Amino acid sequence: MKETKQMSVSAIENGTVIDHVPAKNLFKVIQILGLDHIDSQITFGTNLESKKLGRKAIIKISGKFFEDEDINRIALVAPDAKLNIIRGYEVVEKKVVEVPDYIIGIAKCVNPKCITNFEHVTTRFRVVSKKNVALKCHYCEKITTQENMQII
Ligand code: CTP
Ligand code: ZN
Repeated sequence: MKETKQMSVSAIENGTVIDHVPAKNLFKVIQILGLDHIDSQITFGTNLESKKLGRKAIIKISGKFFEDEDINRIALVAPDAKLNIIRGYEVVEKKVVEVPDYIIGIAKCVNPKCITNFEHVTTRFRVVSKKNVALKCHYCEKITTQENMQII
């Protein structure tokens, strides 16, 4: 840790720090990871300054280490997120998120006639492009792109 830099959110002893979350998507990340119903200590800061993102948020979850598969679910709302794995107050590993091959839930299908938009059916997509994210609906085969994507 750098002595010269003041942390806006206190250091943690063990756990996961998710940095570079776009401030506007902080609560979506919390929801996607189910942080609203786990009993770990969680601290977060939002509207922190970031050269890259304008306004960023940071989330620190004590005593929790995520599976890559779970963490990658946030890629749609926090594509530039950086994960720091902390053990004994030290950063022991850094990871980036990767858009998964399949997305279950999280996004809404763009097609108003899609069954997922008028019945209680969880959305399912195959990721057909990861760079400019494009999702192909399992039910209606329509493509939902980054631009017209709505997060549920
Ligand atoms: N951190 C923490 N608790 C610790 C160690 C680090 O909460 N015991 C947090 C820091 O606040 C920072 C992140 O983990 O947000 C990464 O720490 P570090 O690699 O030391 O910071 P930077 O070099 O600024 O990271 P980067 O530039 O890679 O984002
Ligand atoms: Zn559909």
